[in-house]
Amino acid sequence: REAALEADFEAVIARHERIEPRDWMPEGYRRTLVRQIAQHAHSEIIGMQPEGNWLTRAPSLRRKAVLLAKVQDEAGHGLYLYSACETLGVSRAELTDMLIEGRQKYSSIFNYPTLSYADVGTIGWLVDGAAICNQVPLCRTSYGPYGRAMIRVCKEESFHQRQGYELLMTMMAGTDEQRAMVQESVDRFWWPALMMFGPPDDASPNTARSLAWGIKRNTNDELRQKFVDMSVPQAERLGVTFPDPQLRWNEERGAHDFGQPDWDELTRVISGDGPCNAERIAHRRRAHEDGAWVREAASAYAARQQEHPHD
Ligand code: ACO
Repeated sequence: REAALEADFEAVIARHERIEPRDWMPEGYRRTLVRQIAQHAHSEIIGMQPEGNWLTRAPSLRRKAVLLAKVQDEAGHGLYLYSACETLGVSRAELTDMLIEGRQKYSSIFNYPTLSYADVGTIGWLVDGAAICNQVPLCRTSYGPYGRAMIRVCKEESFHQRQGYELLMTMMAGTDEQRAMVQESVDRFWWPALMMFGPPDDASPNTARSLAWGIKRNTNDELRQKFVDMSVPQAERLGVTFPDPQLRWNEERGAHDFGQPDWDELTRVISGDGPCNAERIAHRRRAHEDGAWVREAASAYAARQQEHPHD
């Protein structure tokens, strides 16, 4: 019977159709999805911190409104993704515990500090740009709830990317000091943005299995290349350069050649030793503890509603 179920599952994957929560799935498929979706959800939630840092110091009411909307969208993305993950039999409470106890990962990029307002623009342009590159193919991922969440997330990410690029355009049309701020910020974020796509394919333990299951639709290096090719003309239009002397167009390949990020740095940041890891987790833990009374009150209310539905 198990073999028949597995054959049905493989047939659905081969037809590029969707697996839904009540369908039979191999335990490894379920575990891989929980790992990836949870890591993705945690990234959205932790990702509120670097930009949230600038909310009280936005240079105008308009910038503040845009940034607030963006940071709130990230909270929304985190919540849809936790819900998608819950369809696989884990609870949001368990996932949150795994994050704050360091048992599950979140994206390396959010362990870098935001040192100037230009970073808000650079994160929108490069970090959200990289996220879009990675997430548009995930709209076709084989697990239904994850793919459907990605559709809305990608629409909102496009707004985030545009607001960042527009912010940087405005600064580039300003003073020399503002232009220098933009370039300095791009210099700091370029390599960490390339690292968001994960280790090179020959050092990525999960890619082959995830591709075979249709969870991932492209390898890490394919998406990194796409991101570089997309970003170079945008940088030219903006008037900034990327800090990579090896970056050049390769006519034969029809793509850009580029240097390798410092992969040891990625390993360090992923394993908890990046510039802001401790601060990010401490902040998340504090927010979770501060919210305990809300969760308790909501549970007490729900219990009472069950006992006395007319109160
Ligand atoms: N930051 C943190 N951890 C990473 C990163 C990164 N940039 N890249 C890879 N890793 C981890 C993987 O999670 C994996 O660890 P694990 O096996 O303990 O879970 C390990 O490094 C090896 O990497 P891969 O074998 O390449 O792992 P995988 O096949 O899962 O690919 C990737 C990694 C590309 C990040 C994939 O999980 C993915 O596409 N996730 C969905 C997108 C996402 O999470 N985006 C978050 C940032 S974007 C945003 O929120 C704005």
